Amino acid sequence: MAKQFDVVVIGAGPGGYIAAIRAAQLGLSVACVDAWSNAAGKPAPGGTCTNVGCIPSKALLQSSEHYEQARLHLGDHGVVIQKVGLDLEKLVGRKDTVVKQNNEGILFLFKKNKVSFFHGQGSLVAKTDFGWAVKVAGPNEEDLEGRHVIVATGSSARALPGLPFDEEKILSNDGALRLKAVPKTLGIIGAGVIGLELGSVWRRLGAEVTLLEAMPDFLAAVDRDVAKEAQKALTKQGLVIHTGVRIGEIQATGKKVAIPYVDAAGKEQALSVDRLIVSIGRVPNTQGLGADTVGLKLDERGFVVVDDDCRSNLPNIWAVGDVVRGPMLAHKAEEEGVAVAETIAGQHGHVNFDTIPWVIYTAPEIAWVGKTEQALKSEGRDYKVGSFPFMANGRARALGDVTGFVKILADARTDEVLGVHIVGPMASELIAEAVAIMEFRGAAEDIARICHAHPTLSEAVKEAALAVDKRTLNL
Ligand code: FAD
Ligand code: NAI
Repeated sequence: MAKQFDVVVIGAGPGGYIAAIRAAQLGLSVACVDAWSNAAGKPAPGGTCTNVGCIPSKALLQSSEHYEQARLHLGDHGVVIQKVGLDLEKLVGRKDTVVKQNNEGILFLFKKNKVSFFHGQGSLVAKTDFGWAVKVAGPNEEDLEGRHVIVATGSSARALPGLPFDEEKILSNDGALRLKAVPKTLGIIGAGVIGLELGSVWRRLGAEVTLLEAMPDFLAAVDRDVAKEAQKALTKQGLVIHTGVRIGEIQATGKKVAIPYVDAAGKEQALSVDRLIVSIGRVPNTQGLGADTVGLKLDERGFVVVDDDCRSNLPNIWAVGDVVRGPMLAHKAEEEGVAVAETIAGQHGHVNFDTIPWVIYTAPEIAWVGKTEQALKSEGRDYKVGSFPFMANGRARALGDVTGFVKILADARTDEVLGVHIVGPMASELIAEAVAIMEFRGAAEDIARICHAHPTLSEAVKEAALAVDKRTLNL
């Protein structure tokens, strides 16, 4: 006899586990199935984000930044350290501990919210009178039935054709987070979010890092002014970034990885590295899900096809997060999970795609929400720009971190904030104010009239808003 639930969630990444908790909060009976195991074979809920994504990458970014500060910058503050050393095993071990705490935290939250957790591979089996049959395969097989099923199976790293990940020399995000030694030379294909974050980690720890990017523009989706400032800062730190390249046939035989490529000028080049990270985007996890068996519609790239409310083509089957269209971000997955749980419970769940923030956790951090200046130009929209450099911000000077600026784009007529772009210290935290203002469809003047604590980096946001009206006070 199958165990029956109002909702069966397949996948316990940020999309799935949050959907499960929200549904349980709303009084529904909920099961969540997840296949991820840790090195000891134990359940490790949290998905890509917790195990090999957001959390471990930020742990390594923090540790490597401390190392860089101790080596290069603490002297500026009069802190004298005679000899700075690196214990990579401890550094990576700390990251593993952070991951484990998060895995355990999610198991605790499931218990607290009375979500039944099943460790194993979930697949859609058939339509039943009750709803949908879901099989859990693995050491503890189970038959479940859900009136509703939420597919939240996430994504995996995309490999280059003919170059599978061995996680020794050819690394996905997974292998790149657990290297046992700092490679002397590290190549990265794709100067996107993962390439820049993990490239920064290993460069800070001592690797010579070269990024090869197919697009002619660095960070093509980012506001041009921000991308330029970020490229300048990252290059100055030592990241070598070649854009507009065409990668040839990569050879990973012997000790080295040989990467032939044609550069932006059309010249043939050859790069030889000890390790290679391939970070060229991600593919949805829909293999083994039973999509064909039940007739769940996937698009040509394998994403589950959903409408604006995350409904699939089948009644009461929903899908959220990386496995559906839209940005592959943990907070986007969470918002969709909450919205679907609320809709199932009869409420009106909704995700505002116009106010989803992006953050790249390099130093300086890069964060934005809303439209870029190039997007507004191509739409032919009339806009005003205000920007303010951290160089003129007292807190940034006290921190000793004055790279970058805040840039606000507002409608020329109504003053509504259309986009906020930040490159600089703590941009990841500063962007929250911009998201809140945009969610309320506020104006640049609204930000300018809000009292911001002094001295804080957030005053740069206020000053950028004042700059929209050409009346900065500190520049
Ligand atoms: P996932 O987190 O991928 O979770 C899916 C889960 O479903 C996994 O546990 C998987 O094992 C399980 N699963 C799959 N198929 C089945 C099945 N058939 N049965 C049972 N279980 C199954 N985003 C941010 O917002 N901020 C960041 O800082 C950030 N950093 C990142 C850094 C890296 C290196 C990477 C790779 C990604 C990062 N992301 C970041 C993206 C973020 O991790 C994803 O957007 C997010 O994890 C998507 O959540 P999800 O729930 O859709 O899927
Ligand atoms: P990405 O889409 O950010 O970057 C991939 C880059 O590879 C692009 O610039 C693309 O032009 C380039 N590329 C593609 N094919 C190529 C080729 N054959 N040769 C050379 N370059 C090529 O994808 P990435 O970095 O793999 O990350 C995947 C996703 O994970 C991100 O889009 C993001 O959604 C999420 N993520 C989010 C983070 C955050 O929020 N801070 C951190 C890391 C990942």
